Amino acid sequence: MANIGYVTMTLALVLALYASFVSVLGAQRRMSELVVSSRNAAFGVAALITGAVCILEYLLITGDYQTEYVYEVSNRAAPLFYRVTALWGGQSGSLLFWSWLLSLMTTFAIAQKWHSMRLMMPYMIATTQITVAFFLWLVVFIANPFAQTPIIPPDGAGLNPLLRHFGMAIHPPMLYMGFVSFVVPYAFAIAALITHQTSDIWTRTTRRWTLTAWLFLSMGLLLGMWWAYDVLGWGGYWGWDPVENASLIPWLIATPFLHSVVMQENRGMLKRWNMALIILTFCLVIEGTFLTRSGILSSVHSFSQSPIGPLFLVFISIMFAISLYLFITRWNELHSENELDGLVSRESFFLLNNLVFVGLAIIVWWGTHYPLFSEAIVGEKIIVGAPFYEQTTAPLWGVILLMMGIVPVITWRKTSLQKMGRSLVWSIIVAVAVMVALYFGIGLKIGGAVLGFGLCAFALTTILIEYGRGVQVRHRKGESYPVALMTLIGRNRRRYGGYLIHIGTILIAIGIIGSRFYQVETQRNLAIGNSMTIHSDFTGTYTLTYKGLREGDSPDDRIITEAVMDITYNGSPAGQLVPVREYFVVQEQPMTIPAKRSTLRDDLYVILAGWEGQGETATFKAFINPLINWLWIGGFVFILGTVVAAWPTMQEHRERVAAPFGVAVK
Ligand code: HEM
Repeated sequence: MANIGYVTMTLALVLALYASFVSVLGAQRRMSELVVSSRNAAFGVAALITGAVCILEYLLITGDYQTEYVYEVSNRAAPLFYRVTALWGGQSGSLLFWSWLLSLMTTFAIAQKWHSMRLMMPYMIATTQITVAFFLWLVVFIANPFAQTPIIPPDGAGLNPLLRHFGMAIHPPMLYMGFVSFVVPYAFAIAALITHQTSDIWTRTTRRWTLTAWLFLSMGLLLGMWWAYDVLGWGGYWGWDPVENASLIPWLIATPFLHSVVMQENRGMLKRWNMALIILTFCLVIEGTFLTRSGILSSVHSFSQSPIGPLFLVFISIMFAISLYLFITRWNELHSENELDGLVSRESFFLLNNLVFVGLAIIVWWGTHYPLFSEAIVGEKIIVGAPFYEQTTAPLWGVILLMMGIVPVITWRKTSLQKMGRSLVWSIIVAVAVMVALYFGIGLKIGGAVLGFGLCAFALTTILIEYGRGVQVRHRKGESYPVALMTLIGRNRRRYGGYLIHIGTILIAIGIIGSRFYQVETQRNLAIGNSMTIHSDFTGTYTLTYKGLREGDSPDDRIITEAVMDITYNGSPAGQLVPVREYFVVQEQPMTIPAKRSTLRDDLYVILAGWEGQGETATFKAFINPLINWLWIGGFVFILGTVVAAWPTMQEHRERVAAPFGVAVK
């Protein structure tokens, strides 16, 4: 089976190379049968990689430990779910998984846009298939997931215990889906440059793809945060780790892109900028994969020892050079059709939005790569810590919140300052009231946090008023409030979906400010019957009384130890918490599972750090994380908003039903 898997991957590679070559040849020689053949080859690539993935899954599920990859990431005790998800639990499997998602996504895009984007299609096929071929090259020649060992081990080494979490099982697929989907708008951008179709056709046609890619990337980031919070047991959710940053950086470039394409579509502006952003997004997606796959993060030396790293660099350089060449040679065609009419206009806010996001991306990119540069240049790895990122990015996030609160009242072309001021009176009043209440009423004295909450209140008020105004207009025409809200959103999904995303972002900001500035942490060693107290000026006082240890259910290769704690909140009983320690016998690795008491006000988050004897005494680490659940609620609203923004309008839906593969789409 493993050999069949390997041959299948190799055939897919040959076919992907064929598709990329023949599609360009067909376009150059105007031979449509060659282009059709390249399309069919691309479909064949997807089918073959699907076959290879099915074979690897079969080997994982049946426990074929002679296959090195299966041995590394799975074992007999692993539940079926984790045997299946072990496909992306290691290097070579995840590269195959990447290629598979990429081929499926691009095949779907080719099928969907085949009729409507005939002229660009050959180059779109070539770009996507070259990218698929690159990843297939890696799995065929360098990181073969079907490689065999000479002996048959009785059992596997097992999946890293940290990865046995539902969040971690679906977080990589989400990130990968986000990453691979960005290849579609990039491929259309390259096709637009080659075919000189540099108007807004390519941005319009790929908008939903870009939004979907962005949605997956956002969900991947959120799930990663949830996993870190739920599993790693350090009380936080974002450590500015290079692996986290590698996914955040493309997101920070794709977000302004989503905004600046609105300018291209509405005003014919920012064509060069949009091209530059999508090229950059693609390169950063590949670079992010390179950072996490090449071993360069642990040391620049391991990078030069692994053949994957240099290959990635060669691929990124080639794609970047081709993109740059096309970009420069089409420079004049990408000129702006309009000028900026006024400083206070939607256009100027979109511009500022773009600059701020790109600034954020540069900061995070620099901080992430700094250890690599320092190790390569001075031989010493200097890690850039969380304070660097927090201090440099916080003011820029503040500007983003401010702009989100202003932009709904700004029109295209020009708005007078007086009109803007009048429209924002309520937002300013609410923001000031919130800041005064927090500072003098609750007694919060950290200026940055109070300002942050004020900006959140400001932005939220403007958006809610914007919604309220729209609903009121429809209500006056006879619609009930719920119907008015639904039709308002339905009629302009892009705008109101966008604003819903902004509301989600504001809620996330509230969660981050609360938990980041007002987190309280304490550690105590307790004998049975003893108590510890943890107090937050922001939310109140918890008392935790240690009742003893007990053995938990141990379903597979784990020994589970639970500590029971009685909790009181501000003196009143508030239930029990059971922090857990799991010991993975095969890997000889312990893992802490925090216990949480979650409310909208805060999380009490407790970790069992260790114990003596049979648990006569035990050490606990406790955190109060104020407002943290607003982060997850915000994440939910954020995703909902993106689905609303990406949902096809009735007209688009009718066109799609009439012509499933886009025949009639303008
Ligand atoms: C983290 C911050 C932000 C995120 C995640 C975000 C995300 C989004 C998304 C995904 C859309 C929908 C785009 C589409 O459907 O094509 C959108 C719409 C919009 N965003 Fe943002 N945005 C953010 C900040 C801002 C800022 C700072 C501005 C100020 C210029 C802004 C202005 C807008 C506007 C005006 C729309 C509606 C566009 C329309 O009417 O077609 N956004 N936003």
